[in-house]
Amino acid sequence: MKLDILLGLQWGDEGKGKVVDVLTPHYDVIARFQGGPNAGHTLEFNGLKHVLHIIPSGIFHQDKMNIIGNGVVIDPVIFQKEIESLEKMGFDPTKNLFISKKAHLILPTHKWIDAMLEEQKGEQKIGSTLKGIGPTYTDKIARNGFRVCDIIAPDFLDKFAVIYKKHSDLLIKNSYKPQDDITTVFTDWFNALQTILRFKLIDSEYEVNDYLKEEKKVLAEGAQGTLLDVDFGSYPFVTSSTTVAAGACTGLGVAPNRTGCVIGIVKAYCTRVGSGPFPTELFDETGEQLRKQGHEFGSTTGRARRCGWLDLVALKYTIMINGVTEMVLTKADVMDNFDTIKICTAYQIGEETTDRFPTEINADIKPVYKEFKGWKQNLSEEKDYENLPQAFKDYVAFIEKETGIPISIVSTGPDRSQTIIRA
Ligand code: IMP
Repeated sequence: MKLDILLGLQWGDEGKGKVVDVLTPHYDVIARFQGGPNAGHTLEFNGLKHVLHIIPSGIFHQDKMNIIGNGVVIDPVIFQKEIESLEKMGFDPTKNLFISKKAHLILPTHKWIDAMLEEQKGEQKIGSTLKGIGPTYTDKIARNGFRVCDIIAPDFLDKFAVIYKKHSDLLIKNSYKPQDDITTVFTDWFNALQTILRFKLIDSEYEVNDYLKEEKKVLAEGAQGTLLDVDFGSYPFVTSSTTVAAGACTGLGVAPNRTGCVIGIVKAYCTRVGSGPFPTELFDETGEQLRKQGHEFGSTTGRARRCGWLDLVALKYTIMINGVTEMVLTKADVMDNFDTIKICTAYQIGEETTDRFPTEINADIKPVYKEFKGWKQNLSEEKDYENLPQAFKDYVAFIEKETGIPISIVSTGPDRSQTIIRA
């Protein structure tokens, strides 16, 4: 079997969590490959709503295995809270969740360094979720990181002391004073490590490759989105991990020639949370309507998301980078009442028109739009694609024709049941 990969094709918040939950019955294993508690994957079923940050979105299917891969960064305290909330709901995640020994841990000091660096950036701040993501990946790359396997190492406390000293020296040098009570925060952090130790800690690269050899179906679950990738996103306004398909190889230890389908999740309009360029951003009533009707407020930070029209220049770019084989279109139902809907097909930069996503994205870029008639019908009630309004089907056909990639699933609402799988 080959590893299938599911990821976001925009700036995150495309609805990946829901789609993973819907697809989980078709897989044996769901494995997260990057990111950490900066993610907020929202799932809704049986009238309940759940937001997962670190735990893979297949967790609610008790007969399916879930893996937190080596590419993920874990905040033990947030992980503990997620586990407690699953247990309150009657789930026993110790049965179907394994954790890579190579995943890195977020320390409270990483969060303080995150806040300190953002503060120092002033106007240029990234708009980080302040979950300590950047500093934790920085330590990983700089070979100063603290991994899950270190919790059970005999020299655990020595390793911890070295990292803690490095971090506190940096914070003191910059006169940064955390708002939190240091003793309480670290007591909570150490206690939360015990929750991690309740789980089977594995060499996830062996586990995943063994599953594939045994013909088991494994889905790699991405977090954030391609336009937040550290290499291909709108740098420096990006996250610190590899959010693209290649990240599934390094984040799980699977060779490129062992990968199969790449399922790209695309929202019918664009959103972005935090700073950074966004060519199709709307600052008018329509943007406000998308935000209100789409409930576009961050599931991790609660911040209002910036909203704009679907951007095909960016989408074609992210399809290319990821080798997308099929797409899932989400949240088109948010535009059910719109008279007209626009899609950006090219960028006008000075005298030139281009369909290439430039490295320098600045205010000179003017989106060129194609306008579509709104379908003015409630999509959420419909179960059969053929019965959907023609105006909507024309809109879908246009995206497929322009990108050359089929849209295999249309999500018409937040609930698991509001999903149309096309034949
Ligand atoms: P960080 O990863 O928390 O440092 O945030 C870096 C940038 O990525 C900020 O603009 C965040 O708002 C954005 N970001 C991080 N994680 C997510 C996500 O899961 N969805 C959407 N945006 C995200």
